[in-house]
Amino acid sequence: MDDLSELKTRWLHKIDAAADETALEAVRVVALGKKGEVSLKMRELGKMTPEERQVAGPVLNALKKELNDAIIVRRKGLADAALAARLATEWVDVSLPGRPRRAGTIHPVSRVTEEVTVIFADMGFAVAEGPQIETDWYNFDALNIAPEHPARQEHDTFYMKVPGGDDHAPSVLRTHTSPVQVRHLEGQGVPCRIIAPGRVYRADYDQTHTPMFHQVEGLAIGKDVSMANLKWTLEEFCRAFFEADGIGLRFRASHFPFTEPSAEVDIRCSWKSGQLRIGEGDDWLEILGSGMVHPKVLAVAGVDPDAWQGFAFGMGIDRLAMLKYGIPDLRAFFESDLRWLRHYGFSALNGPSQHAGGTG
Ligand code: DAH
Repeated sequence: MDDLSELKTRWLHKIDAAADETALEAVRVVALGKKGEVSLKMRELGKMTPEERQVAGPVLNALKKELNDAIIVRRKGLADAALAARLATEWVDVSLPGRPRRAGTIHPVSRVTEEVTVIFADMGFAVAEGPQIETDWYNFDALNIAPEHPARQEHDTFYMKVPGGDDHAPSVLRTHTSPVQVRHLEGQGVPCRIIAPGRVYRADYDQTHTPMFHQVEGLAIGKDVSMANLKWTLEEFCRAFFEADGIGLRFRASHFPFTEPSAEVDIRCSWKSGQLRIGEGDDWLEILGSGMVHPKVLAVAGVDPDAWQGFAFGMGIDRLAMLKYGIPDLRAFFESDLRWLRHYGFSALNGPSQHAGGTG
């Protein structure tokens, strides 16, 4: 059994000398693995006489156990050392303050677009879209705005450049969202109930005008959709949007080439010490244009004006935002001044909900 004690010393030494867990595992395989040195010795037991085996068996088993225990102890030691080394290099001071990261805000235009969409969705209106670069035909002609009509000049239209040799009328940056009415009727037909929010463009710049701004168009066509439905819908919308029950609206006869009859809608307001208040007082503020869709517009879009009728309206989203949130200058909306965005922006976690004044 002398060679066993030599073997034991040798393996204990190797176990001790293993530099890491991988090396230790290699030592374990060579010593105690199936074909390991100790296992081979165990196999020799079979060739011994029963007497020899009685002596050698327990000794070998004890050796095996001793080596196994040594490996377990060493493994734990190595793991502890590895952890200690990691902790020494990778420590984190959890008491340090975090790096401040400013959360962005939702722009008032996005917020109001969402609010408007939520309110109209509740009344059964879906959202439709159209292109911002629009043909002259959809932007004007299809809406019954003839080439010589003053609206073409009033809209301060941006025209796209036409390549030399092309004699098509130039496309325009749409001056309003109304062309979406025709596109939607052509594509989806009737009956319909949609709103179409989006960017529009006019060459104009002062405190209440920017060359790009936002409108939302509304369109509802059915067999018997009437001016009364228009009035109810807009009153319901204003009540929900401005979160005021006693909102006063005034329908004023007006003219748009694409509606007949046409009405502009004013909302009751007051200017107390320079502060605008919606829903009270004796002043009126124009907020939108509307009317019954002109039969010519329906016909152009392939809808039979003798069988179908309905209303349309268009309002400025930026304007709604200025009124509701008391923002004085439209130009600041698009200057990307972070101070302005932090002041007037909305938390992304605080979405628009259905207001008490809704149709609920
Ligand atoms: N498109 C008009 C504008 O930009 C607004 C408008 C008025 C839209 C009456 C409508 C409407 O749908 O019926 O000034």
